[in-house]
Amino acid sequence: MVSSMDTAGAVDTLETTASNSVDSAAAQSSPVENRMTTRNVNLWYGEKQALFDVDLDVPDRQVTALIGPSGCGKSTFLRCLNRMNDTIDICRVEGDIRLDNVDIYDKTVDVVQLRARVGMVFQKPNPFPKSIYDNIAYGPSIHGLAADKADMDEIVETSLKGAGLWDEVKDRLSEPGNGLSGGQQQRLCIARAIAVSPEVILMDEPCSALDPIATAHIEELIDELRQNFTIAIVTHNMQQAARVSQKTAFFHLGKLIEHNDTDQIFTNPRESMTQDYITGRFG
Ligand SMILES: Nc1ncnc2c1ncn2[C@@H]1O[C@H](COP(=O)(O)OP(=O)(O)OP(=O)(O)O)[C@@H](O)[C@H]1O
Ligand SMILES: [Mg+2]
Repeated sequence: MVSSMDTAGAVDTLETTASNSVDSAAAQSSPVENRMTTRNVNLWYGEKQALFDVDLDVPDRQVTALIGPSGCGKSTFLRCLNRMNDTIDICRVEGDIRLDNVDIYDKTVDVVQLRARVGMVFQKPNPFPKSIYDNIAYGPSIHGLAADKADMDEIVETSLKGAGLWDEVKDRLSEPGNGLSGGQQQRLCIARAIAVSPEVILMDEPCSALDPIATAHIEELIDELRQNFTIAIVTHNMQQAARVSQKTAFFHLGKLIEHNDTDQIFTNPRESMTQDYITGRFG
């Protein structure tokens, strides 16, 4: 589906994608500062262009918040990062999007593998219609990450602990995941995302369906997760962006208007449009 991406940097891509061992090779030669980079990303739904020349760096083990008014392209951009837009027939992407300096749209890239490395948590918690245990075990089992049952038990426990849910569910692992409260279901989805040891976790308004207590819980969790994972989060809540992120990217009408340290964006933005948005003058 992509034209310019097939050629841009194809040579080094081919060299480094061989056998999926890019990450370790890249990490050894030079420390990865930016887990993901995008350059000149343009995207169309049919005739309608939804993203314009988006250049963004997503730094390793930090939280990057994507903010901007409804319809500005935040979800669209987020979905470019793990090729979820591939599932939309009329969607066409151009540009260069890299994970650990490898073009994720290169034809040698296995999309299933990519989505294990760049996981996603959606706005509405969406547990599988399975038990709590099986919700977590599903991904690791598909990707062959557990040698035996004991191994899988450990992955399930570690993931649920990582998502701050273990104590609440350890005695009911065989009960259905969708029997949990909304906030617990969202943590279950986060546990499911981390169970396959992704490098990056994309979150599209993960708290918008949650009450303030569940939201606070998820925000604390995001802060802990960034020790081990790189996170990009879409949020409409300015306080949340300011609390959880280290970098903030402000989008407007499909363009990335400003991207900087979160402190800077919220105290001294460069663009007046950013100032107007964060102070609630539009959006
Ligand atoms: N599947 C799709 N088919 C056609 N157009 C789409 C599709 N998804 C999004 N769009 C359009 O692309 C633009 C960006 O939408 P997107 O959902 O990315 O915005 P957003 O910033 O996430 O908005 P919100 O804050 O409301 O979630 C909008 O004009 C939207 O109508
Ligand atoms: Mg959206």
